[in-house]
Amino acid sequence: MNSQAWIDKAEQCVMKTYGRYPIVAERGQGCRLWDVDGKSYLDFLAGVAVNNLGHCHPKVVAALQDQAARLLHCSNYYHIPQQIELADWLCNHSFADRVFFCNSGAEANEAAMKLARKHSRETFGENRFEIITALASFHGRTIGTISATGQDKVRIGFDPIVPGFRYVPFGNIDALREAVTPQTCAIMLEPVQGEGGVNVPPPGYLKAVNDLCNEFDLLLIFDEVQVGCGRTGTLWAYEQEGIVPDIMTLAKALAGGPPIGAMLTTVSLAERLGPGTHGSTFGGNPLVSAAALAAIRTIAEDVTLKNCQAMGTYLAQRLERLREKYAFIKEVRGQGLILGMELTIEGGALVVAAMERGLLINCTVGNVLRFVPPLIVNRDEIDEAVTILDSVLANVDQGKQAG
Ligand SMILES: Cc1ncc(COP(=O)(O)O)c(C=O)c1O
Repeated sequence: MNSQAWIDKAEQCVMKTYGRYPIVAERGQGCRLWDVDGKSYLDFLAGVAVNNLGHCHPKVVAALQDQAARLLHCSNYYHIPQQIELADWLCNHSFADRVFFCNSGAEANEAAMKLARKHSRETFGENRFEIITALASFHGRTIGTISATGQDKVRIGFDPIVPGFRYVPFGNIDALREAVTPQTCAIMLEPVQGEGGVNVPPPGYLKAVNDLCNEFDLLLIFDEVQVGCGRTGTLWAYEQEGIVPDIMTLAKALAGGPPIGAMLTTVSLAERLGPGTHGSTFGGNPLVSAAALAAIRTIAEDVTLKNCQAMGTYLAQRLERLREKYAFIKEVRGQGLILGMELTIEGGALVVAAMERGLLINCTVGNVLRFVPPLIVNRDEIDEAVTILDSVLANVDQGKQAG
């Protein structure tokens, strides 16, 4: 079946919760994706920061094939060696002592918010349940996580939301301090905001947030669903600031493609969620845990992280040169290999034009082009992507350039 036939079929059976591009994906290798018509794309979206090792990394594929032939799934009523190995690895390579596994970023954040509330209730009494999050944040699509997300647009039509959230401007420590009340139990932030437009906080902000949490006995939750797993050039984004959160949530790239979520925390906090308080049928099952162990070990290798740092710097420089060339590019920003290009014009049409020329990127908040290529990307692939992007930007109607 060709692309059009698949798209016509999808019309008849798949819910339209996504505004999809007319690409029907067939296979991937490294930084490239092929559609069913044989057209190839340079993939600088990487499944929205999931394919950090590129498509079908041989170590992840081998781990999946090996595990698939032995045991796909068994319930969390039993101990699962692959899950134990994965948890052990994560604890040995992070601040955490304990891990809870689930299947997505939203679920990991749900677990984090439940833990924060339960800890606070048991320590300080029942009126201390509020979680402060940032404006322009994104924490997921469940009722709980749209309530946590600091963007009105994700909540439209789904009222009433879960009570107990306050939102503050990201990067403003005074606003955060003002928002703390006797009801506050935790602060939940993305160390770098992804969906909200690739926003990097000012230097020292996250450290000041950590200090504030210590001052008021608040839990610090870092949502590293998008920027964990090597994306910023260190294994975890919090390492860049020399601070540690109380809780960290992961998902996306952790298993190299298969769905996974994880909440990492300390031993004393972990005790708050005893048997029967939380769970997930699929969470940390043998298949996904085997994949995750292979994926995260490979991501953590020096060669992967160093490549992310070097290629992040190189891509940022190349994008910066485009900013000097085109007046409608306002700013290039980011950390490691999560980069945003803020425009003074709408970015949606540019994403489509890039796609037609064989480059996959996306656009957040209407005017920020987002680049999250695999961490294994090389200079030639970056040069190719920038050449395509340059040709797309050169075609922007000068009359539409604002500001
Ligand atoms: C920072 C952050 N948190 C949570 C989520 C939600 O993850 P999921 O779509 O796996 O539920 C996302 C998804 O983009 C995200 O970027």
